[in-house]
Amino acid sequence: MKRILLLECSPHGQHARGNRLARQVIEQRWPAAELIERDLATQPLPPLSGDYATALTGSAPFDDPAFACSETLIGELERSDCLIIATPMHNFTVPAALKLWIDYVLRIHRTFAATPQGKVGLLEDRPTLVLVSAGGFYQGERARQPDFLTAYLRHVLGTLGITQVEFIHLQGMAHGADAANAALQGALAQLERTAYFPLSLSTEIAS
Ligand SMILES: Cc1cc2nc3c(=O)[nH]c(=O)nc-3n(C[C@H](O)[C@H](O)[C@H](O)COP(=O)(O)O)c2cc1C
Repeated sequence: MKRILLLECSPHGQHARGNRLARQVIEQRWPAAELIERDLATQPLPPLSGDYATALTGSAPFDDPAFACSETLIGELERSDCLIIATPMHNFTVPAALKLWIDYVLRIHRTFAATPQGKVGLLEDRPTLVLVSAGGFYQGERARQPDFLTAYLRHVLGTLGITQVEFIHLQGMAHGADAANAALQGALAQLERTAYFPLSLSTEIAS
C-alpha cells in the first residue's frame, strides 16, 4: 500500500488553502493510501535542546536519548514512499515550524554524509510534492519580493537524497478572492503538468 508522509506547516491548520489542496490531491490520487500526518504548525515540535545540538555535533550513537524526536521524524520519512509538504511562505522563506522539522531530520551521519565532494543524501529518493502558498508574488512579472523558499527547500531535500521534487505555487493569496481563485486555478494547471503527481482535479473540488 502507498504510504504518504504529509507535512502541514500553516498556522491556519485545516483552513489553509495549501493544506486543503494537499488533502484533495491525496484523496483523488491515492484514496487508499496510508497517511502519516504531521501538523507542524498547530502541533509544534519541541525546540532544539542543548543535548540535541551536542549529540548531533558530537557524533553520538543513533539511540542516544537526545535523538529521540529526530529518530521519530526520520523514521516517518523512511517509512513513506511519497512526501507531500503544504507550506506557506513566511518572510520570504519556510515558516519556523518547517525549519524546525528540517533541523531534526537533516542530520550528519544519519540522513546525509559529509564527503570531500560535499554533503551526500543517505535516504531513498521518492516523489515529493511541495505546495507553497504566499500572500504576494515571488515569481513571474508580478514578483515584488525574493524567494528564499524554493531553492532552499529543494537544496535541503536534495541533501537528504530526495531529488524527485515538484513545487506548486499558490501566489497572491492575500490579493482578494479573485486572485486567490486564480492562484488555485493556476495550481490545478501546474498539477496536471507534474511528472510524479499528474492529476486533473475539478475546479469545484479545489475551490
Ligand atoms: C508571519 C508571516 C509572514 C509572511 N510572510 C510572507 C512573505 O514573505 N511573502 C508573502 O508573499 N506572504 C507572506 N505571508 C502571507 C502568507 O504567505 C499567506 O497568507 C499565505 O496564503 C498563507 O497560506 P496558508 O493559508 O497556507 O497559511 C506571511 C504570513 C505570515 C503569517
